[in-house]
Amino acid sequence: HNMFLLLVEQAISFIPCLPSGSHTVVELLEHGQNVVVVDNLYNASYEAILRIEQITGKKVHFFKCDILNLDGLRKVFNKFDVWSVIHFAGLKAVGESTQIPLAYYRNSITGTLNLLQAMNETNVKNFVFSSSATVYGNPPVIPIPETSPIGSTNPYGRTKTFIEQILMDLCAADPNFNAALLRYFNPAGAHPSGLMGESPNGVPNNLMPFLSQVAIGKRDKLRVFGDDYPTKDGTAIRDYIHVVDVSLGHLAALEKLKTNPGCVVYNLGSGEGSTVLEMIQAMNKAVGRKLSYELCPRRPGDVTNLTADPSKANKELNWKAEKTLDEMCVSLWNWQTKNPNGFEGFDVNPPAEC
Ligand code: WQD
Repeated sequence: HNMFLLLVEQAISFIPCLPSGSHTVVELLEHGQNVVVVDNLYNASYEAILRIEQITGKKVHFFKCDILNLDGLRKVFNKFDVWSVIHFAGLKAVGESTQIPLAYYRNSITGTLNLLQAMNETNVKNFVFSSSATVYGNPPVIPIPETSPIGSTNPYGRTKTFIEQILMDLCAADPNFNAALLRYFNPAGAHPSGLMGESPNGVPNNLMPFLSQVAIGKRDKLRVFGDDYPTKDGTAIRDYIHVVDVSLGHLAALEKLKTNPGCVVYNLGSGEGSTVLEMIQAMNKAVGRKLSYELCPRRPGDVTNLTADPSKANKELNWKAEKTLDEMCVSLWNWQTKNPNGFEGFDVNPPAEC
């Protein structure tokens, strides 16, 4: 979805309905910020906004708007005295991006350029970007420092790389412009209340939402993509990080922007790698029974290991992933059991359009 978070004077912010986005709203609200959400609701639900209000007891302003609609963005930017933007935007499936690259580039690059244009016209100088570990491609060293070479292997990853580059160029051109590029590793889990979590449309691309749908009986078994990787059990390693920790990373990045740092880059990861089989075991423990899976060939585009070296963010943002794998699995299962179909079926119409 086209979703972004915008911090306004007195800290009004927009939030994306992506799990890490809507969780970021909750954390911002609970840390005394105000929030405005802008979403084209392409495959998101306004219900997520109502849940945020339920969790926090605070009002969330909402505008239905596509970031490809520059005039719509302008209207919103002119409604508020904007301080900063956090931009999570866009489509996020690696495999899908190889099938419809133009949609990925148009949605992500043109959408971001529109956003930056609306910011420029209203003198907004602070930007936090939701980037991804996928920009590292197949990294030479594990754990991965921010200085690891960039080498995306798919259009999705390249959209992240290109936007990072645009922001670096913008910061080089305008000494008052500040951008924090946050390279997410693998967000997992859900809000502890069980009121909010990932609600993928169709078949989930990602491991944990798929696994929780197996647990709830929506999918018959997990296909494990590859057991011939050079790892302890042959399955691929990722750095799973709780969505609440990812959200708190954004609050820390916003604080960093207040110091006028220019362009800064951080890994948002735990620093702990887990194999697919270890994630299945962790979920079995949370669910209380063994979830079925079958070993299948590797998924094209996957790499052996993406584990963060999070020490730069730990130090410079004074931020650290605190939640455990068990908390990720328990919160995910709590969300899934309370919302067997995610936000499906909650089709409340949003109050305002751009
Ligand atoms: C994790 C591991 C799969 C599904 C991508 C993006 C990244 C981020 C998360 C947005 C891999 C294996 C998966 C399945 C499996 N996107 N797997 N069976 O590919 O590491 O990262 O999504 O925030 O930017 O690059 O995440 O969850 O798809 O896969 O075996 O049904 O689980 O092979 O090893 P990935 P993932």
